[in-house]
Amino acid sequence: MRIAFVGGGTMAEAMIKCLLVKAVVTPRDIVVSDVSGARRELLSREYGVSTVADNRKAREGCDILILAIKPPHLVQVMDEVKNPPPEQMVLSIVAGAALSSLCRGLNHSSVVRAMPNMPAQIGEGMTIWTATAEVNEKQKETAQSILGALGEELYVSDEKYLDMATALSGSGPAYVFLFIEGLIDAGVHIGLPRSIAEELVIQTVLGSTQTVKKTTKHPAELRNMVTSPGGTTTDALLKLEKGTFRSLLLEAVAAAYEKAKHL
Ligand SMILES: NC(=O)c1ccc[n+]([C@@H]2O[C@H](COP(=O)([O-])OP(=O)(O)OC[C@H]3O[C@@H](n4cnc5c(N)ncnc54)[C@H](OP(=O)(O)O)[C@@H]3O)[C@@H](O)[C@H]2O)c1
Repeated sequence: MRIAFVGGGTMAEAMIKCLLVKAVVTPRDIVVSDVSGARRELLSREYGVSTVADNRKAREGCDILILAIKPPHLVQVMDEVKNPPPEQMVLSIVAGAALSSLCRGLNHSSVVRAMPNMPAQIGEGMTIWTATAEVNEKQKETAQSILGALGEELYVSDEKYLDMATALSGSGPAYVFLFIEGLIDAGVHIGLPRSIAEELVIQTVLGSTQTVKKTTKHPAELRNMVTSPGGTTTDALLKLEKGTFRSLLLEAVAAAYEKAKHL
């Protein structure tokens, strides 16, 4: 399987790393085109992949063409790589780019649209994806193996969930990082050395996440389990609810969703 990346930035690098670590492909199977000579140099040095400056050249002879450029560069890039051979599958990770625009811009019908997220950098990503009807079962399996290398993957047949996922899981790591940062500051505020606060918070977030995942209990049930009547946790929860913590989250994600729909 030969994979071409157009755009060799942060996400492309995360994908390349995961594909090689999980042995989905070898460096010889990957070619990357990027406008930046420094990026091309770094990717070929670190991962042993081929690199080119010309996007048209990258897509020659590949089975899968991955579009990993930022949204403002998409129109120009699609113009360069349009009319790919019918058997080539195009996989776009460009936020906000709808299947219909991709198909129109590329003059092509076998297109997968995916929304990965940043923890893909360590193979712990969450990717939601969909495909046009022209993507056949074998190509879907290929897309699944590529996206599965990044962490968890979830196929949906309805494209409308992609913009929603952009706001929830695409931007989600930023919300979680802000939460972690704020909680560490809170520990420091009450007198803990920063290094201790960091250690306590990171494992608390990790352990709590794994508890939700492994027990499959509803988060509210787990929260009740740590909230003793008249105890310390309930005082803290009261402050969070008074500060509209939950509705703020709802509004924040809704704002990101509005933006995602109009990228
Ligand atoms: N980062 C995330 O967490 C994340 C998550 C989900 C989806 N995505 C999506 O993934 C895509 C890539 O994001 P990213 O964070 O990897 O962006 P990025 O780091 O900026 O990578 C894009 C790369 O493409 C290069 N480039 C620009 N114009 C080009 C052109 N015409 N032809 C070839 N290469 C070109 C850029 O070079 P210059 O820097 O020199 O312009 C850069 O190296 C975006 O569409 C984003 O919506 C990102």
